[in-house]
Amino acid sequence: MADILLDIKGLEKAFPGVKALKGVNLQVRRGEIHALMGENGAGKSTLIKVLTGIYAKDGGTILFDGKPLDARSPIEANAAGISTIYQELNLVLFQTVYENLFIGREPLTKWGRVDRPTMVREAQRILQEFGIDIDVTRPLSNYSTAVQQMVAIARAVSTKAQLVIMDEPTSSLDVQEVQLLFGIMRKLKQSGISMIFISHKLDEIFEICDRLTVLKDGSFVGDYDIDALDQLKLISLMVGRDSVELERTKKGYAFDGATQVAAVKGIRRGMQLAGVDLEILQGEVLGLAGLLGSGRTELAQALFGSQVPDEGEIFWWGQPAKVHSPADAIGLGMGFCTEDRKVEGIIPHLSVKENMTIALLPKLNFLGFVRRKQQDELVKKYIDRLKIKTPSPEQAINNLSGGNQQKVLLARWMCMNPKLIILDEPTRGIDVGAKAEIEQLIQELAQSGIAVLMISSEIAELERNCDRIAVMREGRVVQQLKGDDISQNNIMHAIASGSEKGGQCNE
Ligand SMILES: Nc1ncnc2c1ncn2[C@@H]1O[C@H](COP(=O)(O)OP(=O)(O)OP(=O)(O)O)[C@@H](O)[C@H]1O
Ligand SMILES: [Mg+2]
Repeated sequence: MADILLDIKGLEKAFPGVKALKGVNLQVRRGEIHALMGENGAGKSTLIKVLTGIYAKDGGTILFDGKPLDARSPIEANAAGISTIYQELNLVLFQTVYENLFIGREPLTKWGRVDRPTMVREAQRILQEFGIDIDVTRPLSNYSTAVQQMVAIARAVSTKAQLVIMDEPTSSLDVQEVQLLFGIMRKLKQSGISMIFISHKLDEIFEICDRLTVLKDGSFVGDYDIDALDQLKLISLMVGRDSVELERTKKGYAFDGATQVAAVKGIRRGMQLAGVDLEILQGEVLGLAGLLGSGRTELAQALFGSQVPDEGEIFWWGQPAKVHSPADAIGLGMGFCTEDRKVEGIIPHLSVKENMTIALLPKLNFLGFVRRKQQDELVKKYIDRLKIKTPSPEQAINNLSGGNQQKVLLARWMCMNPKLIILDEPTRGIDVGAKAEIEQLIQELAQSGIAVLMISSEIAELERNCDRIAVMREGRVVQQLKGDDISQNNIMHAIASGSEKGGQCNE
C-alpha cells in the first residue's frame, strides 16, 4: 500500500540471556505520528536500534518506502531517510548552533571554502520556521536541552528525513517546552513526515499520536488507532492486567511539631538561587514544584553539597552543618538520586549488583571483606521490589533498558537507609506499572521516618505523593501548599502565578 512508509514484519533480536524482540511488527503510515508503547524492557529502544542499524537483526523483514532496508549503521539509515533524535543527542555541544545544523553537509563557496555567511543565514531561517529565535553563532551548550533537541530535529528535517524517530524526547522538557515540541511535530506531520514517538507519559500519547503499537516482553501485542483506546485500556494492554492504582491517598497534614531533619536558610547561588529558606521534617514527603530552571535541582544540589552556595546556611537536625561536598552529605545521612543517570548516576561497565551497592560498600565491609551474603540478599530484595528486569544481578548495567537503569539507581539510595533522601524526577522514564510500585515504596520510606525531598515536573505525581509542596520560581520559594490544599489545580496555579504573590512566603 502506498500510504505505508515503514513496514516491519517478524523482527527478531536476541542478546545473551535475553530475547529482546520476538517477532515484532510495526507499520507506520505516511504523515502519521505513531507511538511505540510498552513497559520498561519491552523492547522499544532495541526495535529502534535495529531499524537504524545500531544492532543487526536476527530475523524478520524491514520495508521502507517500498524497498527492503537493511541499514548497517545510523549513517546508512539516515541516507535512506530515517533520522533519530536520541536521548543522548548526537550533537557537538561546544560548536555553534549553525555548525551543528550543517555537520557533514556544509555549503561551500565557489572557491571550495566553507560558506559561513550562508550557513548562518540558512540556520536562522530554518530555526525561525520552527519558532525558535536564538543566536545561531553561539555554542549549542549555551542553550537548554529543549533548544538542543529542536536543533537536532531541525537538522533531521532539513536532511530530508521521511521518518523522524524520537525515543523519550520529552523526559527532560518542562510543560511549555513539550508544547513547543508538539507544535513542531504537528508542522512536520502537515508536511507529510512520519514520526515514531516513545514516551511513558500517557497524556502526551493521547495528545499527539494518531496510532500506536504495543509491545510486551519483546512480543507484538497489536496496533491501534488512538481513538479506539482510552488510558485504562492502553495500560491493560501494556501491563497485561486491568488497573494500576495511581491516586492521592493522603489526607490532611500531620507534621506540625515534627522534628526538623534538614533546613536551608538564605541560600543564594549565582542567578539560580535567590535566597531560599526551607525546612524538611521527619517522615514528610516534601515536593519541589516549578518549571525547569526555577531552581529546584539547584536547591537540592546545594543541600547535598554538589553545588556549594555563595551564601546561606544548612542545618542538620537543628545544628549548623558543613556540607561542602556530596561526601559530607552522605556522611550525615543524605542520599540523592539524581535527575541525570547518564552523567552522575550509573557506572556503565559495572554490574547491576555493583551499581546498586557501590555507595553501601563501606558499610558492608567487615575486616576488609565485603559481606557477600548480605550484599546478595539486599540486591535480590530490590530487584524483586522494584521489578528490575535483568537476566541476573551480574548483568552489566548498560545492557538494561533505560527505565530499569533508573530503578537500579533508586535502589542504590534506598538500601543506604538515609535519614533524608532527595529524589530528582524519580519516575522519569519509568512505565506506569512500575511507577505505582515506586510511589508505594516512597510512602513506606516516609512512614519509616525518613524525610523525602521529591522533585518532579509531573504535577500529578507531586499531588499523589507529597504532604507539602514548595513551589519555586526564579530561584525562590514563592508558595507552599500542604495537606488538603494540595491539588493539581492549586499546584499548577502556583507555578503559573507564583511570582505575583510577591517574593517568598514562608509560614
Ligand atoms: N546491549 C544489550 N545487551 C544485553 N541486553 C540488552 C541490550 N540492550 C537491551 N537489552 C535488553 O533487551 C530488553 C529490551 O530493552 P529495551 O532497551 O529495548 O527496552 P525499552 O522498551 O526501551 O525499555 P525502557 O522503557 O525502560 O526504555 C531488556 O531486557 C534489556 O535488558
Ligand atoms: Mg528505552
